[in-house]
Amino acid sequence: MTTTQTFLKQLTDKPATWLVTGVAGFIGSNLLETLLNHEQRVIGLDNFATGYQHNLDQVKELVGEKKWSNFTFIEGDIRQLSTCHQACVGVDYILHQAALGSVPRSLEDPINTNSTNIDGFLNMLVAARDAKVKRFVYAASSSTYGDHPDLPKVEDKIGRPLSPYAVTKYVNELYADVFARCYGLESIGLRYFNVFGPRQDPDGAYAAVIPKWIAAMVRDEPVYINGDGETSRDFCYIKNVVQANLLAATTENKAAINQVYNIAVGDCTTLNQLLDYLRENLVVHFKKLESFKPIYRDFRSGDVRHSLADISKAHNFLGYAPIYRVREGLTEALDWYLTSLK
Ligand SMILES: NC(=O)c1ccc[n+]([C@@H]2O[C@H](COP(=O)([O-])OP(=O)(O)OC[C@H]3O[C@@H](n4cnc5c(N)ncnc54)[C@H](O)[C@@H]3O)[C@@H](O)[C@H]2O)c1
Repeated sequence: MTTTQTFLKQLTDKPATWLVTGVAGFIGSNLLETLLNHEQRVIGLDNFATGYQHNLDQVKELVGEKKWSNFTFIEGDIRQLSTCHQACVGVDYILHQAALGSVPRSLEDPINTNSTNIDGFLNMLVAARDAKVKRFVYAASSSTYGDHPDLPKVEDKIGRPLSPYAVTKYVNELYADVFARCYGLESIGLRYFNVFGPRQDPDGAYAAVIPKWIAAMVRDEPVYINGDGETSRDFCYIKNVVQANLLAATTENKAAINQVYNIAVGDCTTLNQLLDYLRENLVVHFKKLESFKPIYRDFRSGDVRHSLADISKAHNFLGYAPIYRVREGLTEALDWYLTSLK
């Protein structure tokens, strides 16, 4: 048995109650699927701002009626404190994912990004504290590194934020830290680096690059690269992120608590390389992609040029060990992309 299998078996043997906020979104719905598959009870909270009922329907189909009966959904908004209180009743662990993502969205609409990502976050902290949950694990972000030039990124060296979104994610870390000091609330922040995988939204102005590009290639639409394509990212497959959340929620290592961690793979992939990987995977199914060429355009404001994580802290404190590198993640998710992104 691998370490992950042993860990998942232990989880299955000890069912707990989890609250997943943002459960109808990409990351939230993947957390839900794994938790239900391992006999956990899950409460989900979402207002469908950027999440979808069809994500929940997909999870229901994947886990089956019996496991689905362990799920309770609350349609509601984290900006309402009473809703957060209601969602936290009887909860052991919170995996807080609800937020308005996307740097460009925050540049266009900083007020709504702020109210969801900061006011909503604060409501969730207060509700978690009042409900005396065992642990509050939350989605932080690599955007917190801002303009700090060092690579790879190490948790305690951050620069100035480059977007309103980055400000909100950094404020989350500050609030979580203060709630630990002032109220003893145990929390762990996971700074995700460019997550990808099934159920990530391919559509809309703020779609992430991988589903957006795959959808465009499949649909015979143009693929735009912002800049020269040598911008790089540490793309992280969703299953690594799920592993990190479960480890963070359940670790008994006292030194691991009230910390933030990079959650990535530790691999640097340029956009040009990414496009090659995608084409390799898709050309087998779509001959037209043999002659495919992207369109290069201006750099996008607020984007950092390179992003690469040092993941040794998560490895040392949480036992995090990413199983999927970018190519393996793309291969595993290919079926989903092919059936969903028509
Ligand atoms: N996907 C990434 O690469 C990435 C990288 C860094 C951080 N993150 C963070 O991870 C978390 C999940 O991101 P995702 O990629 O799954 O995005 P997503 O948009 O698919 O999911 C977010 C979910 O939160 C819900 N939500 C938004 N506002 C809400 C509100 N006011 N009340 C209740 N629910 C609300 C949305 O409807 C959606 O279902 C976010 O906090 C995001 O900032 C994601």
